[in-house]
Amino acid sequence: MAERSRLKHQQPSDPGHMTERKDDRMWGGRFERAPNEDFARFQRSFGFDRRLLPYEIAVDRAWAKALEPIGIFTATEVKQTLAALEKISERAKTDSAWLETFGADAEDVHHFVEKALVQELGALGWKLHTGRSRNELVATDFRLFVIDAASEIQHVLEALLDAFLQQVKANLHAAMPGMTHMQHAQPILLSHFLLAHAEAFTRDIARLQHAAASADTCPMGSGALAGNSFAIDRPAIARELGFSRITANSLDAVSDRDFALDYLFALSGMATHLSRLAEDFVIFASQEFSYLVLPDEYSTGSSLMPQKKNPDCWELIRGKTGRITGALLGLLMTLKGLPTSYQRDLQEDKEALFAAHDQVLDMIAVATGAVASTRFNAERLQTAASNPALLATEAADYLVHQGIPFRQAHDIIGKVLREAERRNVSWTALPLEALKKISPAFEADFAKGLSVEAALAAKKVPGGTAPESVRAAIADLEGRLNKRVTKTGAKP
Ligand code: ARG
Repeated sequence: MAERSRLKHQQPSDPGHMTERKDDRMWGGRFERAPNEDFARFQRSFGFDRRLLPYEIAVDRAWAKALEPIGIFTATEVKQTLAALEKISERAKTDSAWLETFGADAEDVHHFVEKALVQELGALGWKLHTGRSRNELVATDFRLFVIDAASEIQHVLEALLDAFLQQVKANLHAAMPGMTHMQHAQPILLSHFLLAHAEAFTRDIARLQHAAASADTCPMGSGALAGNSFAIDRPAIARELGFSRITANSLDAVSDRDFALDYLFALSGMATHLSRLAEDFVIFASQEFSYLVLPDEYSTGSSLMPQKKNPDCWELIRGKTGRITGALLGLLMTLKGLPTSYQRDLQEDKEALFAAHDQVLDMIAVATGAVASTRFNAERLQTAASNPALLATEAADYLVHQGIPFRQAHDIIGKVLREAERRNVSWTALPLEALKKISPAFEADFAKGLSVEAALAAKKVPGGTAPESVRAAIADLEGRLNKRVTKTGAKP
């Protein structure tokens, strides 16, 4: 109690003290000369970190409330500060001109709010920053941003997964040539191919959740680097802001940007998956393949060649992936070699992450529309899947069932293929006598069992391409998607 009244005594919100301030910078006292104009512009971050304003205000609210039990704020001062913060928040939402004009000389989002508070409350506005530093504020705001951002991306990814599931169900039984090294390998179902992409995107959701969990720790109370001398209730602030826990070390708390790296890694992985999907669809849309018809709504034409329909949506998705990975590498480079503690270099963490977030949102939205409106050419896919070469492995498996060791069976089918090539016929058209000359293990039932349908049906292990396995995979994927609870937050 004694300490409480001492603190109160030493920190009056007496407007008389206000007149002693020479400028409205947050740190001008020890400087004789004003900053160089180029440098002032160079160091400002309000142009981009204003995006953190809703989070800054949320942290300010929590901080204002935490200052009362330790005797810095009276109940009335808390009320006044909260009301002013509310006013600033509302005005910022509706009055963009105010952000431009009033924010014109704000150094960053933290300075902006302090300036606005002082305008509303006089000297009381300067009290809120008691015991705290922008170093912990920016780390806290940015963590809150990443948590909401990850949840926003998860939302749109779920819509992409829905688009995949619809196409999977609409194309459940269409066969296509499965490829490795871009060479015909074995028949698969188109639905199985589409589920392969969907499966990759579910891992992206897990990575997003990991990034959000990594951001879910509250630095407030870490001060500039050393902690807080006013016995501020750190867990209460964390709870108020929705964090699950507080950071364990004040120095680490102002240095750590691992949550941003985790988020950029999640975005990069996702963009890489989108890029691979794009590549598949660009190839499948080519005249040589004609596996799918590009939707008009997501294609462009040529200014010169009237016949052209170009897969620009997929090419742009593939192309923009470079920027996303670039953002991850850029932040890794910024962090590399920084001493432990806050360094101003850390201000470089935000712009590229904001841009990567926005870009991936657009990429997923376009991919979702394009996937949903793509028409697959089932007839063409079936014809391509009927290439007898795709059944060579099945033929070797037939010999295995006849008791021949696989390596020998492989060799025998190789010889069959060579013989067919010599006769210039399809190997499936070779007469039984010709086959028997190569191996007596061939019987009359050999040709009968060789079909795309039989090859597909045989792959009935879980995760295989047999229709029954694919049906089970759909149910499994739907189950996993429905089980996930989506955390919704403020729009980042
Ligand atoms: N604008 C800075 C950032 O984004 C936060 C301010 C910390 N500035 C400082 N000189 N300690 O990281």
